[in-house]
Amino acid sequence: MKNPDDRDGDLRQSGVMTAADVVLLGPDRFRDILDVDTWAFPSSYTLDEQVQWPSPLPWGRTYGVEDQTQPGRLAAFHTSYAFADTPVPGARLPIAGLTWVAVHPQWRRQGLLRTMMDAHFTHCIERGEPVSMLFAAEPAIYGRFGYGLAARQVMLTVPRGAALKPVAEEGLTVRIEHFDFATHGALVARLHGAIDRPGWVTRPTEAHQRAYTSEIPPRKGEFEALRILVVERDGEPVGYALFRRQFAWGAAGPAGITRVWEVAAEDPAIVHAAWRRLLDFDLTTEVIPPNLAVDDPLLSMLVDVRATQPRTQDNLWVRLVDVGAALAGRRYQAGLEVVLDVTDAVLPQNAGRWSVRAGAGQVPEVARTDRTADLALDVRELGAVYLGGISLVELAAAGLVTELAPGSLAAASTAFGWHRAPVANWVF
Ligand SMILES: CC(C)(COP(=O)(O)OP(=O)(O)OC[C@H]1O[C@@H](n2cnc3c(N)ncnc32)[C@H](O)[C@@H]1OP(=O)(O)O)[C@@H](O)C(=O)NCCC(=O)NCCS
Repeated sequence: MKNPDDRDGDLRQSGVMTAADVVLLGPDRFRDILDVDTWAFPSSYTLDEQVQWPSPLPWGRTYGVEDQTQPGRLAAFHTSYAFADTPVPGARLPIAGLTWVAVHPQWRRQGLLRTMMDAHFTHCIERGEPVSMLFAAEPAIYGRFGYGLAARQVMLTVPRGAALKPVAEEGLTVRIEHFDFATHGALVARLHGAIDRPGWVTRPTEAHQRAYTSEIPPRKGEFEALRILVVERDGEPVGYALFRRQFAWGAAGPAGITRVWEVAAEDPAIVHAAWRRLLDFDLTTEVIPPNLAVDDPLLSMLVDVRATQPRTQDNLWVRLVDVGAALAGRRYQAGLEVVLDVTDAVLPQNAGRWSVRAGAGQVPEVARTDRTADLALDVRELGAVYLGGISLVELAAAGLVTELAPGSLAAASTAFGWHRAPVANWVF
């Protein structure tokens, strides 16, 4: 064993920190957790301020690594949300939402993230969560652990008053109010959780729902407190938007911004009723929508999308932790009979040939097989196509999927697709 004080070495190789050193952290370690978090993600707020804020951290799923040479000193931590009922193509699955991944700079690049990823995958398997998803702080980090980019998001800056194509809003009324958890918390949770779009994760606990809508300073900043626009039909809430405006005065007059946090609306009249108002608050000049799926109805409803300067960015990254259970846990949009030869350097139990047979929209049969493979790909690419938003053809064109049996690629690519693009509308 190397000298424990030698911090330049790989701590795992030195035996000072191993996967066994990943320990469950309870609420008594909240301050230590926030300390490591603010070393990883710098903040101008003091720990005394931050410990007062409502926290979404799920105790029982929050793990850390302590420096064995200084017992009690936290070097790194991570957690994962229990997204128990997450839409995937044609079904819902328990998915782990990996988040709050932080390593104190003193211990970075010594294998602690790798150690925590080993522990995370073990916990996913123990909990029966065949898929792990995340938002990446930096896109270069997670491919090595088998995560593939599975959803892209569109970002717009919409000029105030941008024209929408007409949609009748008959029978709908709209209320615009201060957000109040006691009044609106349940309707937000219900309508948000009802949306059936792959990857559309929802806040899983009441503590998380409260934390998400609370007025903590980084959220509030220069913006007003959270507001809600509720769309009703026959007095029943059928959709809503959360938003905050920022007041500003420019040389040419009012220059406010409306930042829309999320819109939960599943039919065109509700979408239209919400956006028509969000796009036209007085004293504003622009509107910033939340993360939008590449097929979000707003993109088709806007008369002039170009004026919104659309940009795309990575949204969800997906890792199939248990390939067999994950492939069996979704549906396929066309008949499929394919043998996949999968590589997985991190979880070798997933590697090898898998047969997937399914009728369109039917429960698939997924099994190990000795048959000749049709397609060869890494588990990272299987994660990328899992939600139906990135195609096998697209990845093959980039040299990431190999077609071994002619004709198999196009057929499998169609079957793995889905009629709705994936997105998570909020960053977790
Ligand atoms: C990103 C972070 C978690 C990495 O932790 P770490 O303990 O230094 O990572 P490890 O030493 O286990 O590195 C594992 C591998 O990932 C690579 N890696 C780590 N961070 C990387 C980054 N930001 N970009 C590219 N590669 C990275 C390492 O080079 C190493 O590669 P190798 O296995 O090929 O040698 C840590 O630096 C951190 O907390 N950063 C700030 C907060 C953050 O970005 N968190 C991620 C939130 S999604």
